[in-house]
Amino acid sequence: MRKPLVMGNWKLNGSKEMAKTLVAGLKQNLADVKNCDVAIAPPVMYLDFVREQLSGSAINLGAQNVDTAVSGAYTGDISAQMLKEMGTKYIIIGHSERRTYHKESDSFIAKKFAVLKENGLIPVLCIGETEAENEANQTEAVCARQIDAVLETLGAAAFKDAVIAYEPIWAIGTGKSATPAQAQAVHKFIRDHIAKKDAEIAKQVIIQYGGSVNDSNAAELFTQPDIDGALVGGASLKADAFAVIVKAAAKAKS
Ligand code: 13P
Repeated sequence: MRKPLVMGNWKLNGSKEMAKTLVAGLKQNLADVKNCDVAIAPPVMYLDFVREQLSGSAINLGAQNVDTAVSGAYTGDISAQMLKEMGTKYIIIGHSERRTYHKESDSFIAKKFAVLKENGLIPVLCIGETEAENEANQTEAVCARQIDAVLETLGAAAFKDAVIAYEPIWAIGTGKSATPAQAQAVHKFIRDHIAKKDAEIAKQVIIQYGGSVNDSNAAELFTQPDIDGALVGGASLKADAFAVIVKAAAKAKS
């Protein structure tokens, strides 16, 4: 049985004060939770501070992005080694907000995937279709293309101990989550797609759902066999709501 992973993506939100209060709330609410891995990805500026706040807890530290270069003349970039030194474990790459606002391509994201693996970090590869693509029945083609960028350059083995987050763009921040059945169908497609290359790798890969997951809809999403947790945006900024989501995953998958 795959152990679920619930991860909070704080995006461009927070302050030291907010991080302190939120982490204290999470530590208190999640102290007894087993059967679910938990991670939070604050803005990179706060990684060290949040790491200190997390001490003594099982909550893992994550980051929202990485750059492809490891060192050198790359002004403003942050390397995988630096993220590792800061104690991060899970690194989000390919988020639709970066694909859209920073024009990140599938092949560039595959390079990020590679640099994370080389440095012993866990990529959380975000994929998903726009509303127009969804309406044109392109969901599977888009997800396959986004996964193939990694599969075809690094091989199926790269997905060992890696995470995929299926985040339909029309569901992000809209309050309009995919239904459990809709999400399950795409998750199964993703797993089957990887299984065509390597069935064992496909069986162990964690596939999170993301897009308007909250404390009311999480439990039902987690009843689906191929939904292995969630990548949570807005609701991860509230300790109580995030804790409810984590506990729902732990319960559904135990
Ligand atoms: P919301 O949970 O706010 O819809 O965001 C989802 C997301 O983009 C997580 O990466």
